[in-house]
Amino acid sequence: MVTAAKVQARASSKDGRAAQPSDAGRTEIPEGDPAASTSHSRFASEVSQAESQEAWEPLSYGEQLVLETYLRYRGRRYDRQRQDALSQPRKIRPPPDAHPGTAGIQQVSTVVEAIRLGYRTLDTALLYGNHHLIRAAIAQSGVPREDLFLTSKVGFLPSSMELPEEHKDAFGFDFLPVPQEIVPRVHPLNVKGKELPAIQLSLEQLGTSYLDLCLIHTPATSALELAASFIPHAYGAGMLAQLPKWSETMVRGALTALASQEVQRRVEEAHEERKKSWQNLEEAQRRGLCKHIGVSNYPTAFMKEMDAYRTAPIYNTQQELHPLAQFRDVQEYARDAGVRLTGYGTGILTSNAVARQVAARLGRTSGQVLLRWAVQRGVAVTPKSNKAWRLKENLAVLEFELEDKDMKLLDALDQQHVFYWNTSLLVPVASAPTSTVAGSPSSSRAEL
Ligand SMILES: NC(=O)c1ccc[n+]([C@@H]2O[C@H](COP(=O)([O-])OP(=O)(O)OC[C@H]3O[C@@H](n4cnc5c(N)ncnc54)[C@H](OP(=O)(O)O)[C@@H]3O)[C@@H](O)[C@H]2O)c1
Repeated sequence: MVTAAKVQARASSKDGRAAQPSDAGRTEIPEGDPAASTSHSRFASEVSQAESQEAWEPLSYGEQLVLETYLRYRGRRYDRQRQDALSQPRKIRPPPDAHPGTAGIQQVSTVVEAIRLGYRTLDTALLYGNHHLIRAAIAQSGVPREDLFLTSKVGFLPSSMELPEEHKDAFGFDFLPVPQEIVPRVHPLNVKGKELPAIQLSLEQLGTSYLDLCLIHTPATSALELAASFIPHAYGAGMLAQLPKWSETMVRGALTALASQEVQRRVEEAHEERKKSWQNLEEAQRRGLCKHIGVSNYPTAFMKEMDAYRTAPIYNTQQELHPLAQFRDVQEYARDAGVRLTGYGTGILTSNAVARQVAARLGRTSGQVLLRWAVQRGVAVTPKSNKAWRLKENLAVLEFELEDKDMKLLDALDQQHVFYWNTSLLVPVASAPTSTVAGSPSSSRAEL
């Protein structure tokens, strides 16, 4: 377990001697206002010193999670050793269909318009709370159900979000900045272990007897993992102003929570939970409730581990993917393992200078350039827009190509800057891929 004392112990003095914690058993994060800059900078400096030490004790999985999360989002960018497998542009594949995503779409008319324009793949999730809109839009579109490819996602929350009462503030949903938007939409069945009834509910809401594709929404299997994954999600959703205060609150909460044995989930338990979710999806597939099954926001290590227990192929993996977060290892794995890769989140980068520069030269929009970049990497894209003219614009990415020089300009932007789910933090260091896990001091250590 991690305590501030332990962190301090690692933040040893310059001569290399380990500092002695004053009370090794107690959490010593200073009390008081989490936003207080003094305590904040004190802790930051402790971590900073600790980071520079060569002789680190092995960190537990939970400790690694907390420290890396903290360091990453205090603005420290790690230099990463990157796989460069995809640096040489490959032969362009036939572009996959562009999908309209539906996370934010709350108008039936937008989905109807997308279908009218030619979109045939609709991406949704039990979390998005808009199954009924999709159902209405399909009915209004006049396009037969069997001509559409309907994707939904289940298994959003970990099976046990139960925490000791005293840690509720730290890890109960009240703590996260997203609950106002998301929690009211988390259906009690949208929980790992309940995938089968969740799929049945989704089918009822969508008014269909089958999903073309059902995904496990996220690999997070505990409150801690979910909280860690949410940090960039909140950041991308415009929470930047709250981040400094929030990240420290997160670390304080995490340190406190980790001090409790009940809360510290072991890697094996997380593995079992992911396995159970997948087995439930396989059962749904056997029963004909889903034609295909897959995962979402899964690091490569988690997809690889599935080889040991899965009896059906991973049809698809969905992943935030754009020039700033290219997930080259996921791209490579998907290509080699025959898993279809769907990327989301390009819209967030439309003000990027490089994308704009390329777009201006080609007489396209930066949104189109970013989508086209993904398509030429063999990635299916799932852009979401509430605007009819943009739906049309996004579909037009199938009509042009980027030259190698422009692909290289965009390739060079990769810094693994994730805006949505940062699930690479959930991979135990021993099996973490080098290109998706921050190359912090802890990435070379493994306890588990
Ligand atoms: N599996 C997961 O965990 C996960 C997570 C996030 C998203 N997704 C899926 O991916 C879909 C897309 O995700 P997203 O909505 O977060 O990101 P996105 O497609 O990148 O869109 C983000 C925003 O960018 C704008 N936009 C879209 N196309 C644009 C263009 N060509 N130029 C400029 N701006 C553009 C849209 O605003 P306007 O509406 O104003 O046009 C949209 O609100 C979701 O609907 C969902 O289906 C999955």
